[in-house]
Amino acid sequence: MIKDESPWYLNAVFYELNVRAFFDANGDGHGDLAGLTTKLDYLQNLGVDAIWLLPIYPSPLLDDGYDIADYYGIHPDYGSLEDFKAFIKEAHRRKMKVITDLVLNHTSDQHHWFQEARQGPDNPYRDYYVWSDDDQKYASARIIFLDTEDSNWSWDERAGRYYWHRFYASQPDLNYDNPDVRREMLEIARFWLELGIDGFRADAVPYLFEREGTNCENLPETHAYLKALRSFMDQNFPGRILLCEANQWPADVREYFGEGDEFHMGFHFPLMPRIYMALRRSDVAPLEWVMEKTPSIPENTQWCIFLRNHDELTLEMVTEADRQWMWEQFAPQPRMRLNLGIRRRLAPLLDNDRRQIELAYSLLFTLPGSPIIYYGDEIGMGDDINLPDRNGVRTPMQWDDSHAAGFSGAPLDALYAPLVSSPGFTPQEINVADQLADPGSLLATVKAMIKLRKSLPALATGEFSWTVTEPEISPNPIAAYYREDDQQKILILQNLSPDRRSFNLKTTTNTTYGLLTGNSKFNQSNGELTVELEPYGYLWFELKPS
Ligand code: GLC
Repeated sequence: MIKDESPWYLNAVFYELNVRAFFDANGDGHGDLAGLTTKLDYLQNLGVDAIWLLPIYPSPLLDDGYDIADYYGIHPDYGSLEDFKAFIKEAHRRKMKVITDLVLNHTSDQHHWFQEARQGPDNPYRDYYVWSDDDQKYASARIIFLDTEDSNWSWDERAGRYYWHRFYASQPDLNYDNPDVRREMLEIARFWLELGIDGFRADAVPYLFEREGTNCENLPETHAYLKALRSFMDQNFPGRILLCEANQWPADVREYFGEGDEFHMGFHFPLMPRIYMALRRSDVAPLEWVMEKTPSIPENTQWCIFLRNHDELTLEMVTEADRQWMWEQFAPQPRMRLNLGIRRRLAPLLDNDRRQIELAYSLLFTLPGSPIIYYGDEIGMGDDINLPDRNGVRTPMQWDDSHAAGFSGAPLDALYAPLVSSPGFTPQEINVADQLADPGSLLATVKAMIKLRKSLPALATGEFSWTVTEPEISPNPIAAYYREDDQQKILILQNLSPDRRSFNLKTTTNTTYGLLTGNSKFNQSNGELTVELEPYGYLWFELKPS
């Protein structure tokens, strides 16, 4: 149950954004911190509680900033530390929290640590990285960026040795067996926390340590270090949070919550693809399966759930057969596929079908966890599968239908990425200004859902339980569940199919089913709720004693 003194993140709506993509204040074609600051009113108006910023550090941008060249600065495209401070101040003034990306696992090869480390075995930074004379060590570790890398080792000519990297070869992994590295990272955390941020989204945490004979993921040593980071934060910056990016099965992610002494929050990766699967199969089974696999987590910790993010829609957490099926269904063109995933946004994935998109949001706001919205998905922005890597889901925010979608005053060819041009998704068709002016827009619906969701704490931390609708059919297209705490009981009914569905639900006597929101018909009488859900329709009720 949410109490007044409950931590804020238990019932918070997060918004993930790329500073470069949001708003360009100085007209150079790249979004910047000053631009983002001018758009804070938009986010506040949407009902966002916390903003998660993708990496803003100096970087050669070979992994869009996850390749950090200096942990203590701001990429010049985005502005300065002064701009950052001003942004934090303005966000806080609007009662919004800010978390930033903390990339622990690796640096850019342009980082001065790596440049030094290469120089020779006696260099003091040598041991900051993981070196080997051959490329056979840790052979059980999988390759993550399968489309570009064929080994986790790369040869460094200068050093005359191989170095270890779990991601791009331009991102050498740091050596967490070195106490200096462990200490440096705490100092980096301190620097940003002192600037006033509210926490970190900690990137790629399963891979910090390497041990022969293991897959080098989720190792006990890794958990021990993350607990040390948490305890450092609790001691020096009480109340700041850690959000875990571990693309792992729920049982493995469970470990990252520790006994409430590791991460405050963790992304629920396996849930996400199953939302799409359930919708496309018109079958609740994938959701039932993943909820059953989801363990309970310690008090005052929370899942973070999402529909899409800045990466490919990852299919790492589904079976091989399901992955093939997901690719066939959602990525029919080869360009849509990337690594073990799909590089498309929410709206195109769901055929730009308003009913399905709304239903996906209904699931996002009612399943257990704090929801994260990926910038642009609140207006149903499109993507550009022809751009390299994951850039196609990182295009400029579409503010209006004026020049450069209102994102920048720069000439179009000076934008960091082209505007989306696919039919149905151009800035003329999809933009914030139009949707703000239209009470029937997707943006208006998302905003209303956010508001409702935040007024219903049972949706954040209440117990989750499935309920049965009659007649029972298999496969079952109805996702029906209760969310309940000792103050509130909420019933959620959702139709995962493109057909209208009629069914009954046994009701508790002396209970009134008060409609909270929805787009379908129902009737309560004689101890039964008779429901006719529209194609992809949904209804949320609050149960009250009559
Ligand atoms: C995380 C980020 C991804 C990045 C990778 C390597 O998975 O979400 O964008 O490429 O880490 O840092």
